[in-house]
Amino acid sequence: MASRYIGFVAKLKTLFVCRSCGAVQNRWLGKCPDCGTWDSLEESTQDPNAEKDPQAALVGAWAELTEPKGHDEEMILSSGLSSGSGAKARPIHEIGDDEANIERMSTGIHELDRVLGKSRAGGEATESSGVVPGSAVLVGGEPGIGKSTLLLQAAASLARRGTRVLYVTSEESASQVRQRAVRLGSQGEKELFLLSDTNLARIVEQTRKVMPRVLVIDSIQMIYRSDVPAAPGSITQLRRCASELVYLAKKSGIAVMLVGHVTKDGQLAGPRLLEHLVDTVISFEGERYHQHRVVRAVKNRFGTTLEIGLFEMTGDGLREIPDSAGVSPVSGTEPRIGSVVCPVMTGSRCVLLEIQALTATGFLGAAKRKSSGLDSNRLAMLIAVLEQHAGLRLADRDIFASSVGGLKVVDPACDLALLLAIASAQMRKAIDPATCAIGEVGLGGEIRPASQIDARLLEAARLGFKRVVLARGKGVVAPKGVKVELVQVKNVDQAIEQLG
Ligand code: TYD
Ligand code: MG
Repeated sequence: MASRYIGFVAKLKTLFVCRSCGAVQNRWLGKCPDCGTWDSLEESTQDPNAEKDPQAALVGAWAELTEPKGHDEEMILSSGLSSGSGAKARPIHEIGDDEANIERMSTGIHELDRVLGKSRAGGEATESSGVVPGSAVLVGGEPGIGKSTLLLQAAASLARRGTRVLYVTSEESASQVRQRAVRLGSQGEKELFLLSDTNLARIVEQTRKVMPRVLVIDSIQMIYRSDVPAAPGSITQLRRCASELVYLAKKSGIAVMLVGHVTKDGQLAGPRLLEHLVDTVISFEGERYHQHRVVRAVKNRFGTTLEIGLFEMTGDGLREIPDSAGVSPVSGTEPRIGSVVCPVMTGSRCVLLEIQALTATGFLGAAKRKSSGLDSNRLAMLIAVLEQHAGLRLADRDIFASSVGGLKVVDPACDLALLLAIASAQMRKAIDPATCAIGEVGLGGEIRPASQIDARLLEAARLGFKRVVLARGKGVVAPKGVKVELVQVKNVDQAIEQLG
């Protein structure tokens, strides 16, 4: 009797899975012992199929039914996911560079291609950038930021170039997506297929019928497998569906692009596991009510994570902001109080960014220091430097600082611009509008040189800046053919003298 009872209990065992790291616990805990996240354990029943190969089930029959199009067995084997019989360990030099030779599919959206990365076809000088066939890309971002718009635009643009795309929408109806396509002017693409479904088995079936080269799933959180006893969006479903789709990508050579939701604190919803599963994680950022959007790779197995792509949300979709344009239009020759421009580097590109500051009456001991787009620790440090080394009294002033356009800045070279903006706001003196500032500020009040100074000067000159305030150093000269006056300063005092 007793043993039967125990057997019954074991069969229905409930487990608790961490939403953040995917670790499994036997009982509920307030804090995940593995990753330390609070309130992240979610109840789930033990999956009866968990012991079996989770990937073999749905897509397993794929290889037998369809020959991978345009990609040989080699690539599938080299993906490492095949449980196949033929895989043998070989010395590295015997392995062909097929993988490097795989031509990327350009999305036709330069800013997106740039983030996806580029590769050089073996030996040849031709570079291709864009989506790698057989790769899995996860695009994360807050609701309403424009993920669906970006992917629909990319899908339409790929289709226009003759690449077949299947766009699966699990949140909207096909006609809603069509409406958006009309708005983007791409409702007539013949190679763009739409499917509105949430059942993974049906999606895989349709994929097999359509045989696209790119499969877009918007979004992964709504996809479910009917044989998994859990709600769509739960850890169990997410893990199973995502690994299945990644497996499909590797098996078939289809590039899979998944849309993932982001929680309030900016983490990708679902276990971290989702990020481990895919090849590339792209995050789509920006303030919802600002029109600028930034695409950045958080993880990229096929490229760098330094590059960013810049977009602007307009009435008819996302518009690329090419290299040639600054983020804050540097128009007008009016000097403005509390505003200084800095050429900021992100990856290989330089963006001219306007940094603004405002000081207002506050209370001693309870002064507010708020920043948007800028590091608040950096702001506090610069305020202290101004107090100590420039004799500004800021202890009872509220200070607000922001980067115009809502762009997040991590480049330390914008320290000087921020410092000058605060000083300008406090002293009610504006900087000459044709002047920008580059440099890191040390705790001793010294101005330190920034990296990649030539690229910054070039960009500043190209956008019409005449003078640049920067750190004093040996051999600091403007690159050949660049007409900018360099104002070299050693410390904060000298920099503040530049305010008119
Ligand atoms: P959407 O792509 O649906 O966001 P997500 O999939 O990330 O939730 O679009 C978000 C917002 O973009 C929407 O609120 C309206 C705006 N938008 C435009 O301003 N112009 C456009 O052409 C489109 C399609 C959307
Ligand atoms: Mg959407």
